[in-house]
Parts: sequence; C-alpha cells; structure tokens
Amino acid sequence: MTVNYGVIGTGMMGCEHIRNIVQIETASVVAIADPSERSLGWGQKACQGRFTPDEYTDYRDLLARDDIDAVVVASPNFTHIDVMRDVFGTSKHVLLEKPMCTTMADSIELRTMAEKHTGMVWIGLEYRYMSPIMSFLNELEDNVVGDIKMFFIREHRFPFLKKVDNWNRFNRNSGGTLVEKCCHFFDMMNLVVKSKPVRIFASGAQDVNHLDERYDGEVPDILDNAFVIVDYENGARACLDLCMFAEGGRNEQELVATGSGGKLEVTIPEGVMTKAGRDYGKFTTQKIAMDPRVNEVGLHHGASYLEHLDFIHCIEENLDPRVTVEDGLLSVAMGIAAQESIARGAPVQLEELL
Ligand SMILES: NC(=O)c1ccc[n+]([C@@H]2O[C@H](COP(=O)([O-])OP(=O)(O)OC[C@H]3O[C@@H](n4cnc5c(N)ncnc54)[C@H](O)[C@@H]3O)[C@@H](O)[C@H]2O)c1
Repeated sequence: MTVNYGVIGTGMMGCEHIRNIVQIETASVVAIADPSERSLGWGQKACQGRFTPDEYTDYRDLLARDDIDAVVVASPNFTHIDVMRDVFGTSKHVLLEKPMCTTMADSIELRTMAEKHTGMVWIGLEYRYMSPIMSFLNELEDNVVGDIKMFFIREHRFPFLKKVDNWNRFNRNSGGTLVEKCCHFFDMMNLVVKSKPVRIFASGAQDVNHLDERYDGEVPDILDNAFVIVDYENGARACLDLCMFAEGGRNEQELVATGSGGKLEVTIPEGVMTKAGRDYGKFTTQKIAMDPRVNEVGLHHGASYLEHLDFIHCIEENLDPRVTVEDGLLSVAMGIAAQESIARGAPVQLEELL
C-alpha cells in the first residue's frame, strides 16, 4: 500500500515533511497547497524529482481530491483551526503541526470536531522522536531514577527564524512563544511525569530579540526568555528554562529527570546521556547514536522521519495515533497558562483553562 499525501503549507516545515516523505518508499506526495507561488516552488523542489505533485493555491481544492489518504497541515499556527474545519469535512488522516491551535476556544472546538472524525488525527509534537529523547524516555520506562520527583528542560537556542509574511513575530498569530515553541516541552513534561499538570507559575519577558524590527510600524511582542514551573497532581514538579538569545552554547536542549533513586540527563544535539544512582560521584555516560532507521536527518535530528514512519504504520494497521489531540490540547493549555501567569505575576490553575 502507498500512502498518498497532500501537504498544506509548503514553507519551512511543509518542505521538511516533504523531504522526509521522499525518503519513504511506501509514501508519495501527490498534491501541495499554498497561497504563495514562491512556497509552492519550494515544495516542488523538496520533492527532489521523485514526485511532481499537483499545485493548488486554495487548500480546499486539495482536500476535494479522493486519491489523497493523508494531509499534513503545516500552515501558520493561526490558520490551523480554519484549515482543520475543512479537513474534518473529509475522512482523510491528518498530521497537524504543533501547536494545535493558538487559543483555548479553538483547541476545544478542534477536539470536539476530532471526536467525530473517521480519519486519524495526529498532532506534530515530534520532539519525542529525537533519538536521544527516545533513549531518555526508554530509560525512564525502566525506572532507572525511581519515582520521578523533578524534571528539568533547558532550551538555550537561536532567536525565532524569519517566516513567510513574518507571521511568527506576533502573539496573535503564533499563540505566543510558550505556546508556539514550548508546547513541545510541555508535552515532554507530561510524557515524563505521567500525571496531571495542575498549576503553573512563570516569569518571562522579551528582553533582547526583535526589538529593532517593525512590521507596518508595529514592534514584535514575543517573549524571548522565561522560567516556567509546573506542579503535577502526583506532587512531582517540572521546570523549563528557555532562552532564545543563547545560540553560542554547547547544546540546544538539556533534559534532567531526578527521582528517589537517581538522576538521568541527556543533551541534544550532542546526544550524551548520563546516568547516576545515589552513590556520590558514580555516574556513567553514553553516546546515543541516531536511530538506524533514519534516512533523512533534516532539521530535527531525524525526528520528522521517524514521526512519518509511525504515522504511516498507524494508518496501515488502523491504530490509534501515538500523539493525540488530547496531548496537543494539553500542551497548548500549559503554554497559555504560563503566559497568563507571566501577565498576572501569579500562579495559574490549569482547571481555569480546561
Ligand atoms: N514540529 C516542529 O518542530 C516545527 C518546526 C517549525 C514549524 N512548525 C510548525 O509548522 C507550521 C508552519 O511553520 P513554518 O515554519 O513552515 O512557517 P513558514 O512561514 O515557513 O511556512 C508557512 C507556509 O504556509 C503558507 N500558508 C499561509 N496560509 C496558508 C493557508 N491558509 N493554507 C495553506 N498554506 C498557507 C505560507 O504561504 C507559507 O508558505 C507552523 O504551525 C509551525 O508552528 C513545527
């Protein structure tokens, strides 16, 4: 069986998806849709001559085709809800890029529509498919640190890249930095802690990046650094340290889980995992190799490739999605709660939003 894909939005991430699908024998890209002719050109180029998809400037013409099994939605965050309303008018499988939506109202509407959809709905929270993170999660499954009490994620990276029409410069388009970027990390926290997030306290600001930029006279309003603390129902706590003017550092991400029995750390992109029990100074380090199945490393350390392998597997075997609408909704809610906490200068209870 070949899975025929249509890709909606062929900017940076849509092309990343296409380059990954090109490397999968049992998949094909038969159509692409984007209002920008320039982006359609990028999409065609990303097919590297293996496919010559039909082009549409209106994604609804792509959705009208019966020969498309699955669509990838990689248009800007604020467009997801409208595109998904139309996707839900079909029975196609869908991989919707993160963040699922930019507001709670849209996320809840999307969840209601998804419950009735006959195709599979998968949210593109693909950091869980990075090889070092997969190894980290597998080790935790083996209970190497005992009961997890604390989970820490540091992302120190480069500023937001330029996007088509600069949509990511404003909270109203992206949902805000802690939704747009950090939904990945909130999802990771939920995977690691395996409990319900109940309360979020955050401090953050836009201190350095984009302050000298103007779009129709308007200064971007997106956060570039924050600390976020999440309290879980089971008493565990998680913390995110985000800095987007730290591209010179050694690693972009560092994850640390600590429990009653020890500590597990991993770094990305170095892929060094450090394991320790409670004996003073006794730790082991291990270099995590790229998963051998990865044919396309791409922009996310092979994660998009493995995400598509799993997406296709779930379609072929008629399985439930591995990354669900509920995962997507919770990760958005946590980002919104963190931003609300910064605005209020006080903790926010998740139940206020959910
Ligand atoms: N999973 C990840 O790690 C990851 C990484 C980057 C981006 N993303 C997500 O991918 C999505 C796209 O981001 P990007 O970086 O590719 O942005 P981009 O600006 O590079 O590309 C977006 C494309 O969508 C097109 N577009 C705008 N409105 C559209 C519509 N109504 N229908 C179809 N196409 C439309 C634009 O013309 C542009 O070509 C966003 O949701 C973003 O958050 C995810």
